[in-house]
Amino acid sequence: MPSVNFKPAIVTEFFLGSTFTGSAPRKIPVFSLYLFFLPFSVRIGGTGHRHKIPYNNTMKFNADEIASVIQKEIEQYEKKIDVREIGRVLEVGDGIARIYGLSGVMAGEMIEFPNSVMGLAFNLEENSVGAIILGDYLKLQEGDEAKTTGKLLSVPVGEAVLGRVLDPLGNPLDGKGPIVTNTYREVESPAPGIADRQPVRESLATGIKAIDAMTPIGRGQRELIIGDRKTGKTAICIDTIINQKDTGVKCFYVAVGQKDSTVAGIIETLRQYGAMDYTTVIVAGASSPAPLQYIAPYAGCAMAEYFMYNGQHTLAVYDDLSKQATAYRQISLLMRRPPGREAFPGDIFYCHSRLLERSAKLSDALGGGSLTALPIVETLEGEVSAYIPTNVISITDGQIYLQPDLFFRGQRPAMNVGISVSRVGGSAQIAAMKQVAGGMRLDMAAFRELEAFAQLGTDLDAATQARLDRGYRINELIKQGLCKPMHVIDQVVVIYAGTHGYIDKVPATDVLRWEEEFLSYLHGSHKALWTKLNERRKLDDELTGELEKVLEEFNKTFV
Ligand SMILES: Nc1ncnc2c1ncn2[C@@H]1O[C@H](COP(=O)(O)OP(=O)(O)OP(=O)(O)O)[C@@H](O)[C@H]1O
Ligand SMILES: [Mg+2]
Repeated sequence: MPSVNFKPAIVTEFFLGSTFTGSAPRKIPVFSLYLFFLPFSVRIGGTGHRHKIPYNNTMKFNADEIASVIQKEIEQYEKKIDVREIGRVLEVGDGIARIYGLSGVMAGEMIEFPNSVMGLAFNLEENSVGAIILGDYLKLQEGDEAKTTGKLLSVPVGEAVLGRVLDPLGNPLDGKGPIVTNTYREVESPAPGIADRQPVRESLATGIKAIDAMTPIGRGQRELIIGDRKTGKTAICIDTIINQKDTGVKCFYVAVGQKDSTVAGIIETLRQYGAMDYTTVIVAGASSPAPLQYIAPYAGCAMAEYFMYNGQHTLAVYDDLSKQATAYRQISLLMRRPPGREAFPGDIFYCHSRLLERSAKLSDALGGGSLTALPIVETLEGEVSAYIPTNVISITDGQIYLQPDLFFRGQRPAMNVGISVSRVGGSAQIAAMKQVAGGMRLDMAAFRELEAFAQLGTDLDAATQARLDRGYRINELIKQGLCKPMHVIDQVVVIYAGTHGYIDKVPATDVLRWEEEFLSYLHGSHKALWTKLNERRKLDDELTGELEKVLEEFNKTFV
């Protein structure tokens, strides 16, 4: 602890500037008080209320008028405290610091330490301030200076961040030079209110058949991707980002607590498919300090929000929120916040809700932009009723549940159709998809039950057997490889074929080959029909008739 030398010296200034000026109103100090407590110095100052009174040379004042003006000034005097403080680090370690002497710091304010290390005021306590260190805390020592900055944590936003790989503070990690921009946005911004929003009604196509048909996602929606480790959670989000090519949707992939090699692989995939042109990757890897992992999703959200408020469409992937929650638990426990269920602090729900509430479809008055969120949560042993999964399920507008046994059986994406839902996206589906996939979710869920029943070896009647057979084929049909997003019209025609019995004769193992060959046939020999479907986006009698003819023709040649 450094010796603190308190030498109070009080200097007061009191002056009232003339408010009668012809120019624009100026800020006029009315009262300022300096308190010097060395080595801390605090200035408390007030500014007078601004008045604009037209200047007139011929104007005559009498004492009453002047007195009334002064009286008004005093009445309207607002105390604004302008504080720049310097404190001292009392203790530092594990990514946090306790600081003495920053009595006027704001919650969430950036604090500057020596060696250009930044911190964030996290706990405001009676005698000290707990700060989380955003950077290398090993560079700090007991007794170091800590200065308030008067600024909340902000990150660079705008076109300059697109195509870049950044850390949660907006520093480049891709070696492509600094981010050149003047536009910054606070990492923690309030979510838009009810009047600022409108219902979700545009589709955000993922290009994944199972999702677009059964749990469609709309622009502005929050759809949780949940499942055990290694069940293809990230793969779904990456495919979705790749599918946003040429749609104008800006994508933000936030990697929290993942291995750097995994993230490098993801960036490489995105680059390979040309998706890095419109994507920003925000990385707080497994080796980053917990505070950085905690703020990474907010930083990604702020970058996406900037485009949303500029009338554009954005997609943010938070991969994953369980690791963010763990990081938050770590800093909260270090800060001695009382632990609750599963040792998470009491405000862990708020931590996720305030992030996800920022996704929205804005009203037309605000430009109609949108921010769609795909948060990912990892479960342990399929336990969806654990604390973090239930929290995030209740915050989001639906969830896609990935199941390990389906994954290992080769059903990829390993989506459990029965408990996956999308509560708002249905209104965003195109009419043709609604027509073909209307009852598919329930049919598939019924098929799974029937399948389990059939395993008992009971004799089945012909109708049940036929239902099972079709189920097996549709089940094959919703399998999809990695990085192969499909156009929505292609999805519509193959699902139409599946649900209307055009693949009943195809062996289940050949369904995906059938799909591939049929689509190349359709695109090659019947491009006009495809174009018409894409223009009308609705299956009328004429188009259904034509499509059925093409399907029959193709089936004759398929071997
Ligand atoms: N549709 C798919 N087709 C084929 N392979 C897939 C598919 N989806 C995922 N995989 C493979 O499964 C593995 C795990 O996928 P992924 O990394 O997306 O899972 P995850 O749930 O995000 O894992 P983690 O828990 O490590 O984050 C990867 O090797 C990926 O290539
Ligand atoms: Mg993953």
